[in-house]
Amino acid sequence: MPEKDVLLKVENLKMYFPAAKSLFGKTTSCVKAVDDVSFEVEKGKTFGLVGESGCGKTTTGKCILRITNPTEGHIYYKGKDISRASKEEIKSIRREIQLIFQDPYGSLDPRQSAYSIIKEAVVTGKEKYTESEVAARVKELLEIVELLPEMGDRYPHEMSGGQRQRLGIARALACNPELIVCDEPVSALDVSIQAQVINLFQSLQERLGLTYAFATWAPPQCLAHSILLSPFCLVLLFLSPKHPTSWRPWSRAAGQMVTGTKLLDQGGAGGTFRSG
Ligand SMILES: Nc1ncnc2c1ncn2[C@@H]1O[C@H](COP(=O)(O)OP(=O)(O)OP(=O)(O)O)[C@@H](O)[C@H]1O
Ligand SMILES: [Mg+2]
Repeated sequence: MPEKDVLLKVENLKMYFPAAKSLFGKTTSCVKAVDDVSFEVEKGKTFGLVGESGCGKTTTGKCILRITNPTEGHIYYKGKDISRASKEEIKSIRREIQLIFQDPYGSLDPRQSAYSIIKEAVVTGKEKYTESEVAARVKELLEIVELLPEMGDRYPHEMSGGQRQRLGIARALACNPELIVCDEPVSALDVSIQAQVINLFQSLQERLGLTYAFATWAPPQCLAHSILLSPFCLVLLFLSPKHPTSWRPWSRAAGQMVTGTKLLDQGGAGGTFRSG
């Protein structure tokens, strides 16, 4: 079997948030948002982090991008442990790993036009562009996400939910990332628009060779090559392992979607999100 090209490896990741403190400021209890999670994301593939609300999907994504500092565990990106990376290293990692949010509205500056939002991301990237090259790059990014050039003049509140998410994707693509952590990027959209945006994600992966870590509660939304399930989802799987509509569409790679415990083998080393 050919060796896997692993872009991201998460090993025994734990993220505990303090929940209560004693009179002397000592943490007496904590929320185990992520508890001993391990998985691998192969280059050019989609990895699904699948679980119910509150199981730790967003927290896992934030740890990968080092928005929060993990309590324990290791995160290897291209073989390098980034879980204790310095501020300078984090800056360059964030050009290569981008995050797409569930609510594009909340993550876009309402005072900036779509053009300025994308331009800002282009000029903060590693590549140095001239003024005219920046304009050409913004135009190209609008085209890549299938937005008309005139959309550049619109402000986020003048766009539909689907158009706003496309803008969020264009912004994420501006610095040519390798890995995109997609945190339920379509769950705020209505079903017909969801399908269009999912198709866009797929075609971008084929065109640009992107790797996705896709957090979702609704597995058909992520079309993953391999997935990691929360314990609660695992129980659901055992309860209806053969249900064609609820389980089969979870993976797009025919034959890769298997039932029962083997499923975790597909997701790398397995692991658990916090249950309950
Ligand atoms: N900064 C924080 N401080 C304390 N607890 C937190 C913090 N961030 C998240 N949590 C808790 O960690 C748990 C996991 O939260 P997280 O947002 O990662 O879940 P999620 O799987 O993304 O849920 P959803 O599908 O609703 O977005 C929750 O119980 C949440 O309340
Ligand atoms: Mg979340």
